Amino acid sequence: MKAIFPGSFDPVTLGHMDVIRRGAQLADEIVVAVLVNPDKRSAFTMEERVGMLQAACEGIANVRVVSFTGLLVDLAKQKGAALIIRGVRGLAEFESETAMAQANAALLPGLETVLLPAAAGLSGVSSSLVRQIAAFGGDVSAFVPGSALGAIRVKYSMTL
Ligand code: PNS
Repeated sequence: MKAIFPGSFDPVTLGHMDVIRRGAQLADEIVVAVLVNPDKRSAFTMEERVGMLQAACEGIANVRVVSFTGLLVDLAKQKGAALIIRGVRGLAEFESETAMAQANAALLPGLETVLLPAAAGLSGVSSSLVRQIAAFGGDVSAFVPGSALGAIRVKYSMTL
């Protein structure tokens, strides 16, 4: 079965990578999709986010990275994917993810969502935390894949 892991990935974190690796064990193919979240203003361009993800996913055979502007359900139709995979870091996210899963299923009946709980040690990791640490010149290497560090340092003019 083909699955989509959608998100803003602004930037990709070790939490995202954990979900990608675990999802890749569950589905035949994972399409990691960088989408537009209308509620967020992104720090990295679409191209930068895709580039960081592609570098981080290199070597994971059944993972592809794409970008898409529009509804997730339209991408699912286009890709022939019947499964959405999302990570959840806690109760608050479980509620918002449930609402999103319900909306997507209403828009595209049969589209199923699987929520993967964050692995131990990764529930506190988020893109916003990474952006905040990087904005003040802090070391984000414990939170993002090593391949993303260069782009993050360039974005925030860091000398680390
Ligand atoms: O990483 P994020 O910001 O939590 O991801 C949210 C995202 C991008 C998956 C969501 O905003 C999305 O699906 N955007 C595409 C537009 C869409 O389909 N919105 C309706 C979802 S219920």
